[in-house]
Amino acid sequence: MTVELAPMTSPADTLAERIAARTARVAVVGLGYVGLPLAETFAWGGYPVLGFDVDEAKVAKLRRGESYIGHICPERVAELVAGGRFDVTSDPARFVEADAIIICVPTPLGEAREPDLSYIVRTGEAIRPFLRAGQFVVLESTTYPGTTEDLLRPILEESGLKAGRDFFLAYSPEREDPGNRDFATRNIPKVVGGMDETSLRLAVALYEPIVEGVVPVSGTRVAEACKILENTYRAVNIALVNELKQVFAAMGIDVWEVIAAAKTKPFGFQAFYPGPGLGGHCIPVDPFYLTWVAKKYGINTRFIELAGEVNTAMPRYVVERVAEALNDDGKAVKGSSICVLGVAYKKDVDDPRESPAFEILEMLRARGARVSYSDPHIPTLPRMRHHPALRLDSTPLTPEFLARQDCVLIVTDHSAFDYDTIVGHAKLVVDTRNATAKCAAAGCRIVKA
Ligand SMILES: NC(=O)c1ccc[n+]([C@@H]2O[C@H](COP(=O)([O-])OP(=O)(O)OC[C@H]3O[C@@H](n4cnc5c(N)ncnc54)[C@H](O)[C@@H]3O)[C@@H](O)[C@H]2O)c1
Repeated sequence: MTVELAPMTSPADTLAERIAARTARVAVVGLGYVGLPLAETFAWGGYPVLGFDVDEAKVAKLRRGESYIGHICPERVAELVAGGRFDVTSDPARFVEADAIIICVPTPLGEAREPDLSYIVRTGEAIRPFLRAGQFVVLESTTYPGTTEDLLRPILEESGLKAGRDFFLAYSPEREDPGNRDFATRNIPKVVGGMDETSLRLAVALYEPIVEGVVPVSGTRVAEACKILENTYRAVNIALVNELKQVFAAMGIDVWEVIAAAKTKPFGFQAFYPGPGLGGHCIPVDPFYLTWVAKKYGINTRFIELAGEVNTAMPRYVVERVAEALNDDGKAVKGSSICVLGVAYKKDVDDPRESPAFEILEMLRARGARVSYSDPHIPTLPRMRHHPALRLDSTPLTPEFLARQDCVLIVTDHSAFDYDTIVGHAKLVVDTRNATAKCAAAGCRIVKA
């Protein structure tokens, strides 16, 4: 007698089939500036998505079909929630429902500028009791090479399940650029590194339907290092132009004109622009993850340290330029009315994290200035850990208000600002972004800083 045996299918094959059929449920953990657009993109790609966040207020908002991130439209969230393609929860027990779990939680620096991996640790510990055979976990939070396999893997394996045999593990860096109209999650190629061949194969299969181009690399460490390289490259080059800005300014040369000319070279030069200092969750933070881990190997990351030094000195440089410009008008900083335009860390976003505007406002206030700010994306200053005393509301930029200011300081060049009106009514504009370059003849003095 012959017995027909059903072919054995491994947990990886079953998961691959579910991914191919788009029945694999994708859980996105941490629904912030990275996680929410990613969840939306997975849903757009046809996967059922379960969003997970510890912030109950965010969960409640999303469940009502609302959005809390300027560039993610509420109609889209409402449509996905109503259509049953996007469910949101703060209940870790629901991790068991997921086939793939994508981790997008914060990775800030601690008080001593050391990596704060507590969010990743807590997420791993929350997943662990509900981890089941056949699941796939992908870390997307930016971190130093080694985090996925040396930190996250042991936490998950304390469940008794073994990575590579029972569950699968990969790292894929997020390359989100909030406010960028040309590039969103879908058309940014995605680098993926698995802890083994199977994990890599699953990662490619999972992301291929949702992004234009998946870039497989040989392992999780290479994928982690790739993200750190990208952001360190930006931090170092921004520091270079910030330093050149100061040298050229002293020589009476406009650094923006120099960069515009240099970028006509069709090879070997990429334009980076100076500013009032670094901001955001990534560029001022990520390179120091590498600095920290490099020390374990006895290596000092001198480029990163130097870039950090130059970039963190920029707010003070800007304040000095404001003081000089006021002095030229026969005024002191003390008692002057100074309005800062733009407190978000970059153009056209509503994210104030690490924005140099806070330090600038505080330094000006410490010198006795009467400070205010205007930012259409941030109606009220959120309470910042390092600037708890700054409590201000955004001021509308009326011609009368502008005319009353001794100095208007452009820190973030939002498109929503009407620069012709600003230079037409203010007495003095200090411009850290070259935002006034295209303005018609100004009624005021413009100082680039
Ligand atoms: N913002 C960017 O432009 C950007 C770009 C590329 C990479 N990154 C990286 O992506 C990661 C996330 O950054 P972000 O800007 O989205 O942060 P965010 O602060 O906007 O969002 C993080 C979310 O995670 C939630 N959270 C915190 N702890 C949690 C936990 N234990 N379980 C579940 N949810 C938790 C928070 O409530 C928040 O909603 C970071 O590693 C960051 O470096 C950010």
